[in-house]
Amino acid sequence: MSTPFGTDITDGTTYPDGLHGTVINYGKQSQVELLEREYLKVPIIIKWIGVGKRLTYKEVTDLYIHLVDYRDILERNGWDVPRLHEVIIYKDKRAACMSVYEEYITGQRIDEIIKDSRTVRRTWELFASLFLLLARQETIAVTMGNQQLHRLSYGVDLKPSNLVIDSAGKVYLVDTFGPKVIKPSGQWAAYSKKLEGIGKEPLMAVTATREGILLRFLRLVGIEDAKNATIQRLWDCLHEAGIPPSEVKFVIDEVKNGYPWLDYLYGKSS
Ligand SMILES: Nc1ncnc2c1ncn2[C@@H]1O[C@H](COP(=O)(O)OP(=O)(O)O)[C@@H](O)[C@H]1O
Ligand SMILES: [Mg+2]
Repeated sequence: MSTPFGTDITDGTTYPDGLHGTVINYGKQSQVELLEREYLKVPIIIKWIGVGKRLTYKEVTDLYIHLVDYRDILERNGWDVPRLHEVIIYKDKRAACMSVYEEYITGQRIDEIIKDSRTVRRTWELFASLFLLLARQETIAVTMGNQQLHRLSYGVDLKPSNLVIDSAGKVYLVDTFGPKVIKPSGQWAAYSKKLEGIGKEPLMAVTATREGILLRFLRLVGIEDAKNATIQRLWDCLHEAGIPPSEVKFVIDEVKNGYPWLDYLYGKSS
């Protein structure tokens, strides 16, 4: 091939030739492949970011220049992330994309643990540790969707599918390639509608405010139409983790009422 964009993939876009492993996930934003070779001491993940999204070269380089910074920010604020080995940008006349090589975390995803009814206790312990980390974050007061909220200095895509637990029980945030760096002005340093799928403001609300992060997470783990006992347990868990009482109240009211604020935000973004 004269360009790295050689192979057609099913959605009709082109896909760079190069080192490939076994596809383990074809997500909304990326394709993830597991690379196991005798010459590699440890398994590695290759992620193809922006495949099928027709990103421009500018959009890809905007993401690229914030990657390292963003991982630093996450680590400084207490998040564990897989080791990054290499990033490569590909470009042809029509589109660009990025491949990243990172440490493969052998373990279980949180959404799998949650689905397993035998691990209810483990699930709540995990929630407690995540809430504790969120409670420790420094925040500033902001208003979004007519609601007073507490905003972190960066964004984090806290979805159950983005959390992998290794055999030692360490929780890793594995989805860090939509770098959510926030400028001092309060705007995203890099933002791609094609990758994120939602508007800048709702994205800020659900990835960078403590209330929004919590609510999206709780809805994704399936806490909907919850029984009183679950609501009480959630209240205790948030409270014991040190989430401020006014935030706990807002979160619990949302959960009880079927997430009206979260729906309003998403409605605004479409
Ligand atoms: N470093 C990693 N170690 C183990 N599993 C991973 C790693 N990175 C991604 N995965 C798996 O691949 C899935 C998709 O990766 P992710 O980076 O979240 O892509 P997407 O942008 O498509 O959500 C994750 O939900 C997880 O199951
Ligand atoms: Mg993900």
